[in-house]
Amino acid sequence: MMHDSGSASAEDRRTLIEEIQQLKSERNAVVLAHYYQRGEIQDVADDIGDSFKLAQEAARTSADVIVLAGVMFMAETAKILSPGKTVLIPDAKAGCPLADSAPVQSFASYREQHPEHLALTYINSSTEVKAFSDIICTSSVARKILAAIPKDQPVLFSPDENLGRYIGEELDRDMLLWKGNCLVHMRFSPEKLSEMRSQHPDAKVAAHPECERAILDQADFIGSTSAILKYSQDNPARKFIIVTEPGIIHQMKLADPTKEYLPAPSRGWASENLCRNMKKNTLEKLHDSLLHLQPEIYVDEQLAEAARTPIQRMLDIGAASGDEHIDIIRSIELPFQRSKIERQLAIA
Ligand code: 13P
Ligand code: SF4
Repeated sequence: MMHDSGSASAEDRRTLIEEIQQLKSERNAVVLAHYYQRGEIQDVADDIGDSFKLAQEAARTSADVIVLAGVMFMAETAKILSPGKTVLIPDAKAGCPLADSAPVQSFASYREQHPEHLALTYINSSTEVKAFSDIICTSSVARKILAAIPKDQPVLFSPDENLGRYIGEELDRDMLLWKGNCLVHMRFSPEKLSEMRSQHPDAKVAAHPECERAILDQADFIGSTSAILKYSQDNPARKFIIVTEPGIIHQMKLADPTKEYLPAPSRGWASENLCRNMKKNTLEKLHDSLLHLQPEIYVDEQLAEAARTPIQRMLDIGAASGDEHIDIIRSIELPFQRSKIERQLAIA
């Protein structure tokens, strides 16, 4: 059948979804989708999650094929954690400007200037930058990981300045912060949010830590996408102002359609807070990726090996209880050696 995005009739759409389900079973494939994906993609996914859950699922799935419906750094992380599997992304142009804000050469020289610092790096980064880092984190485990690092250990946090500052202030830790931002989260308007709060005094404000301080100061709750979703379900309030990419509202409505979820206002035009990269993936592209097993993700094996260690530390600390994290942190070799930088750059 023809898959013409946008003009598909309801009948065509049903056929497309049936074909996707059929291809998933023929290929022994799973579709892992981020909460910012279009609702129709979330509806055909086998698992939907935040960046941490997507990495966990990619590492433990027994499927032969993983379609990572998200952005490139998520798909590359899935490939690094499951190198033997075929990993696909519906649109290979779905990048992340925040990840792009830390080019590997600049990051390498930054590390070289601070060899005694432990590099704690947000998963929204390139594979090359991950390979230069000591521990990766997502917004859901960033605080837990920072808390596990001894207080006297200097840390450099990259690339999201807002997340770094937020967890640093929470734990009273001074960190060196890379000056990167998520443009999607930076486009929320603190002034308009304040007005919206006055108009809806019964609403709870839930914000993502990628937002700037003037937004976070107004929030009743700050957390990752999955934590915001859980908060909207557990909190007895009937109305929520959601200060993150509005794709997450799809799951909120499915979980409790009787509550009201208001997308927080942007500085300019209404759709400014849609992540254009996340939205590059469509149902048609998802279908075609399963049909042709393209676009496939490739990561150089040596590079993948270097990036796997800090990602695995994140997964291990995320799952650790009690004092288990101490050994994980102790296994990190500091100061960061120039020879290591040269080795990593050679493969990057
Ligand atoms: P989380 O879903 O991990 O909170 O991340 C948000 C995000 O911006 C992903 O790109
Ligand atoms: Fe990157 Fe921001 Fe889009 Fe997440 S929401 S993929 S951080 S640009």
